[in-house]
Amino acid sequence: MTPAIKSLEEYHKVYQRSIDLPEAFWAEVANDFQWRKQWDKVLEWDFKKPEVKWFDGGELNITENCLDRHLITQPNKKAIIWESNDPSEPSVTYTYRELHAKVCELANVLKSLGVQKGDRVCIYMPMIPELTMALLACARIGAVHSVVFAGFSARSLADRINDADAHLILTADGAYRGAKSIDLKAIVDEALADCLGVRSVLVYQRTNTPITMQPGRDLRWHDEIAKVDNLCEAVTVSSEDPLFILYTSGSTGKPKGIMHTTAGYMVHTAYTFSNVFQYQPDDIFWCTADIGWVTGHSYIVYGPLLNGATVLMFEGIPTWPNNGRFWEVIDKHKVSIFYTAPTAIRSLMAGEHSPKATHKLDSLRILGTVGEPINVEAWEWYHEHVGKGNCPIVDTWWQTETGGIMISPLAGITPTKPGFATLPLPGIQPALLSEKGEEILVNGEEGRLCIKFPWPGMARSIWGDHNRFRETYFSAFPNYYFTGDGCRRDLDGYYRITGRVDDVIIVSGHNLGTAEIENAIDEHELVIETAVVGYPHELKGFAVYAFVVLLSEAKGADEEQLRKEINEFVSRIIGPIAKADKIQFVTGLPKTRSGKIMRRILRKIAEGETDNLGDTSTLLDPGVVEEIRKGRV
Ligand code: WTA
Repeated sequence: MTPAIKSLEEYHKVYQRSIDLPEAFWAEVANDFQWRKQWDKVLEWDFKKPEVKWFDGGELNITENCLDRHLITQPNKKAIIWESNDPSEPSVTYTYRELHAKVCELANVLKSLGVQKGDRVCIYMPMIPELTMALLACARIGAVHSVVFAGFSARSLADRINDADAHLILTADGAYRGAKSIDLKAIVDEALADCLGVRSVLVYQRTNTPITMQPGRDLRWHDEIAKVDNLCEAVTVSSEDPLFILYTSGSTGKPKGIMHTTAGYMVHTAYTFSNVFQYQPDDIFWCTADIGWVTGHSYIVYGPLLNGATVLMFEGIPTWPNNGRFWEVIDKHKVSIFYTAPTAIRSLMAGEHSPKATHKLDSLRILGTVGEPINVEAWEWYHEHVGKGNCPIVDTWWQTETGGIMISPLAGITPTKPGFATLPLPGIQPALLSEKGEEILVNGEEGRLCIKFPWPGMARSIWGDHNRFRETYFSAFPNYYFTGDGCRRDLDGYYRITGRVDDVIIVSGHNLGTAEIENAIDEHELVIETAVVGYPHELKGFAVYAFVVLLSEAKGADEEQLRKEINEFVSRIIGPIAKADKIQFVTGLPKTRSGKIMRRILRKIAEGETDNLGDTSTLLDPGVVEEIRKGRV
């Protein structure tokens, strides 16, 4: 692997070169990998179509770079250290040699079930090593994985299975999460009632919960593994062949199947892992995300394994059996790099527990955060109580769509400022645009964060809907990729992400589309229509506020009961993460004459700002605002 950047001076030099000669810069990084055939062209792009191709004409298999390559140099190095939800269950480790064998076995099972290159495989599993193996087994044979977070409802799962047209599901009997267990197989069974294309379900036994197995469709993981050997030649794929689909919420409509391809994603995740975290061969790296989200894909699976790192994988939650669990795990496994989300930090800050007093935490070298803006207070607490004042914090900004980290300090190299993601990584060209679409060139201003030049890890499309890809990301500002985020660049040229400027709400680090939640609530038989907005929440960052118009039949109904029912709908249709914290029943919504809901006003009311609501003169019925304002919950 290209050695990581070692000084601020070097960063500035490399950055400049990556802008002046982007193709030469990325080709050098890409040269470090094992290719079956060298690429013909480093980059071809057109943001109008949009079409982006990196390393086109190249051939490779990403798992050879994650696994086989390390078998020669470090077969006995630990690849995965797994820590159970239950602190008394022994941890499990896999060396690179063992992981390689397990991935090959599972890949052979996939082949025996008829999976071929290009086929989509849906993965709905707990945070166990077999989940990592599942992703890699797909990649081994050129199949496209589509991981669905195991907290999504049957309905959400079914939508994703159908959208990707997956014929095989990998799942488990159940998943442990803190004191609870979730019956994954039962959720899959319910989902499959609506998925006629699914031919097989492979079930891993984790919780020993009783399950029903449908003959001819459902197979036990252990039985199938017993039938195959552990040699599986990696299938050759092209640089631009899809590696995975991962669904993310948008401002409108159904979740989008963000599609990533192979070579560019590999180069980007590997490069950013080594540089941002200043990875050293003896590090124990722990990213607390779930593999169901992009952070897990890029920084539990691909980025670390491409670098031959030891990665810790944790099945549980930060607050079970108590608020000290993260710190216990860090001490137990001597974690040196710890990467988590602001929402986790805030929830642990709120508890009694200061790890500084009770835990050693002396193995820690570097801390990271991702997923939402980190408030200064949480940053300071993280620095002082977890890092004990001497671990640099990398506040990493990126998105499902960007594939890997885009704006972030290099640990210990870039001087940090609380709340700032600081500077773009080499190869990344951010731009701030005014609402009129003009690029803001001076510092000290706020604008809409865009990227003006392609980078290898960028998404190539939305699965099955390239038009939507263009509309969502490339139409607001022609020739720019639009992120959906607001951002300020200070006088030092440092970037501070200010939050979403579209109708996506980030609740505890999870992106939720307001339209999705509105549609779910509207399915309740007593609901006429709904408007959902986000409001600032101390622990979650943002929380969901729903304004709901009921049918006249609902008059006199028990409001608390209705609120409960509405949230049950949301849980069932999307998943518990999308539940509304506040539900206010109103007789109408503030709409313009053309029928558009004025969310700006609702957002202000939800935030508690009730006096200064701005211009309401374009409203069809300004009176409704007064009523909503008075009834705020
Ligand atoms: C937000 C997660 C501020 C942002 C990797 C982005 C952040 C969205 C940061 C993507 C950060 C992510 N500071 N905001 N360091 N990192 N975000 O797709 O709004 O789940 O657009 O990817 O999270 O969320 P996603």
